[in-house]
Amino acid sequence: MSTRTQQGVSSPAPEKDLGPTYRPAAEKPTATVSKEVPFENVHILPQTPQLIALLTMIRDRNTERGDFIFYSNRIIRLLVEEGLNHLPVVAHSVTTPVGKDYAGVKFQGKICGVSIMRAGESMEQGLRDCCRSVRIGKILIQRNESTCQPHLFYEKLPTDIADRWVLLLDPMFATGGSAMMAIEVLKAKGVPEDRILFLNIIASPEGVGNFSKKFPKVRVVTSFIDQGLNEKNYIVPGLGDFGDRFYTL
Ligand code: PRP
Ligand code: URA
Repeated sequence: MSTRTQQGVSSPAPEKDLGPTYRPAAEKPTATVSKEVPFENVHILPQTPQLIALLTMIRDRNTERGDFIFYSNRIIRLLVEEGLNHLPVVAHSVTTPVGKDYAGVKFQGKICGVSIMRAGESMEQGLRDCCRSVRIGKILIQRNESTCQPHLFYEKLPTDIADRWVLLLDPMFATGGSAMMAIEVLKAKGVPEDRILFLNIIASPEGVGNFSKKFPKVRVVTSFIDQGLNEKNYIVPGLGDFGDRFYTL
């Protein structure tokens, strides 16, 4: 295993035998799974055969746009479902059609989605599929292609956002610059850090580290922490430019 972890020369991610429990280990293929990180605010989806197969599809440079959208949407759905598990619930009992009581729960509090445009908008439908008529705000942040520094161009957010739980949406978490800028925008609107969940598909260890040190109370839900960043601050092995592959390629 490489010990050099400077930019562009990161250590590899771990490997794991994947497959159903009834299969002997010798018959399970070995696949690269997410790195782990020592930050309590970071929640990585279980590295199931299903998730790894979906990620394999979207990482493949030969996957054409229709399939890229389809498989990305399936991962986004998993992220949203897991994100919702982090919202508080209160006791809620109901009576079933056979006249028996069931002691259940219901969500407490209001939510909204906030997408970091453009790529983050790809995650809005997954949120809508789980939360009917959810309010959605937009923040347009673009990473400068040569400096990789984020620039804020625009924000339009629900007026009562300070009273809501916020699900911040952006599939790629590279240096963390864009996500950190978005958190500053939300905080300036009065949203407390511990009421923000940042949902993303692939994160870099560098981005997660920078972010978690600055905003330890913001929960991060990701499907994978990758090997690292290359000299252009693209995630490796990554999947390339998510926005281009989802919208324009
Ligand atoms: C991508 C991505 C994130 C950002 C991640 O967007 O969707 O917003 O880069 O990089 P960072 O963590 O280093 O800031 P980009 O600015 O390329 O615009 P796009 O959404 O139009 O593709
Ligand atoms: N934005 C992307 O779309 N991909 C990366 O790897 C980094 C930033």
